[in-house]
Amino acid sequence: MIIGKISRISGPVVNARGMEGIKIRDLVRVGELGLVGEVIEVKGDQISIQVYEETDGLRVGEPVKSDGKPFLAELGPGLLGMIYDGIQRPLEVIRDQTGAFIARGASGDPLHRGKRWHFVPTVKVGEPVAHGDVIGWVQETPAIRHKILVPEGVAGKIVKIKEGDYTVEEPVAELDTGQKIFMKQLWPIRRPRPIAQKITAGVPLITGQRIFDVFFPVTKGGSAIVPGPFGSGKTVTQQALAKWSDADIVVYIGCGERGNEMTEVLTEFPHLEDPRTGQPLMNRTVLIANTSNMPVAARETSIYTGITIAEYYRDMGYDVALMADSTSRWAEALREISGRLEEMPGEEGYPPYLASRIAEFYERAGRVICLGSDKRQGSVTVIGAVSPPGGDFSEPVTQNSLRIAGAFWGLDARLAYSRHFPAINWLTSYSLYLDALQDWYKREIGPDFIQMRQELLEILQKEDELKKIVQLVGRESLSEPDKLLLDIARTVRDDFLRQNAFHEVDAYCPLKKQYYMMQAILAFYKTCQGLLGKIPYEEILKLPGWEQLSKMRYVPNDQTESYFPGFIRELSAASMTKEVVA
Ligand SMILES: Nc1ncnc2c1ncn2[C@@H]1O[C@H](COP(=O)(O)OP(=O)(O)O)[C@@H](O)[C@H]1O
Ligand SMILES: [Mg+2]
Repeated sequence: MIIGKISRISGPVVNARGMEGIKIRDLVRVGELGLVGEVIEVKGDQISIQVYEETDGLRVGEPVKSDGKPFLAELGPGLLGMIYDGIQRPLEVIRDQTGAFIARGASGDPLHRGKRWHFVPTVKVGEPVAHGDVIGWVQETPAIRHKILVPEGVAGKIVKIKEGDYTVEEPVAELDTGQKIFMKQLWPIRRPRPIAQKITAGVPLITGQRIFDVFFPVTKGGSAIVPGPFGSGKTVTQQALAKWSDADIVVYIGCGERGNEMTEVLTEFPHLEDPRTGQPLMNRTVLIANTSNMPVAARETSIYTGITIAEYYRDMGYDVALMADSTSRWAEALREISGRLEEMPGEEGYPPYLASRIAEFYERAGRVICLGSDKRQGSVTVIGAVSPPGGDFSEPVTQNSLRIAGAFWGLDARLAYSRHFPAINWLTSYSLYLDALQDWYKREIGPDFIQMRQELLEILQKEDELKKIVQLVGRESLSEPDKLLLDIARTVRDDFLRQNAFHEVDAYCPLKKQYYMMQAILAFYKTCQGLLGKIPYEEILKLPGWEQLSKMRYVPNDQTESYFPGFIRELSAASMTKEVVA
């Protein structure tokens, strides 16, 4: 045990002296209360500590203790369904008004100590195992088998392994080296968990949100950022993804946002059902809450705690999606701590290492071949909300995130103001994954999926050009084909891209329905084009198809196959033209 004394206190940063042998990133206990902190700077005899709890009341001269180890996340069965703070203390009582989430200096065990899990071995006595090998599993929730992995630094032949009920601290296997394997493992959160190999991903994370799945998809293992000003829909978007995306596991980090936003998640999620398994959504979810009223240093850490848990499930061979709302608040925590350290500030007061920290975080996303002899694959998809002050995307956090993320979902204040939700700007947003995903969409959904996506996007781009002309010379001066394009573009925007996150049916749109909706719009467009010149444009505007298209998103999802093929036939040229011209 290394013991020193507090020499100075500056908000969340505390200095101490007399701690010989202490290293950067070591975990310390500060003061009489034993507040949790982490060493962030060692300068001669003096160290700087970022303290994860409120520091008021601390005094110079109080003791600081450390056993010379970094902050370690506890990994093992029982993570799913848990709600943690940034340093993985279980938050059982949420009292966002007082900010008293947890008594200071408290240390709840991240994993339940007394609970017994039924362990089923998958290897036998005599078999050699090494880091990353699966030796068995426990059924953590009805849908998730929690694989028990050989930890780092452990290798040998199994001499003892037996099916049975164990707590996370009882050994489930023993090796000829004398090493024991427990279900509980520890991992330093700032170090990425090792993998065999990163691979390129050709599978999308299906979100059930048309603007993402069709226009700007992200791969399983990819990364996306959602920047937007206050009130533009970052949190609603992140929560929709947490609810509906087809990841096996979801890690949701509420990072520095208002407490009430997190309360919504906390009260709503336990009642929600996973659309794929019918199980409670919390059975596949880990929540990490470090809201704005909680200590700033733990907010900085919450991101790493979250991604470590995500990597841990990836290592079992699962597809994990991580949402962080908001990475800007994380960056602000970084800035505050850097300021307290009196480091040389970079752009807008952020520390010069902001860019590398952001990059390191997003680089922990990826699709991988896991360590272990069975070559299983897993992925971590990272979706980070960014809240640039005043919605100005040229600021450092947005810019540095943009450089590294593969998809950019830009929220637009004007769209939000006109209540077009999700307020994703379709002209400025992009996905770099489209090439990698083309084959998947063509194979799994429809050969013309990508072609139709392209046509819709072109309609919207053309609309943008035409709108400029209309502003100058008025709509009446447009040709009929251009008028029709504007009207179809409105349908694309209002009846396809708009999606109400709070509507029973519309909140989640299956991919096949998205495909049919595109077909319906394009079929009707073609019908109308065929009628141009044959009947007055006003008559085209009176066709029932416009109204029908505006309702199709509310067709119950389980009626997709029974409704759409007939509907599309009705909208397409043959029938419609005959009726009208006759
Ligand atoms: N997809 C959506 N469907 C319906 N309403 C939405 C949607 N996205 C955002 N909104 C509306 O916008 C409001 C603000 O969104 P929110 O996600 O809290 O913004 P931010 O996190 O960017 O500050 C929400 O309370 C909701 O009324
Ligand atoms: Mg928000």
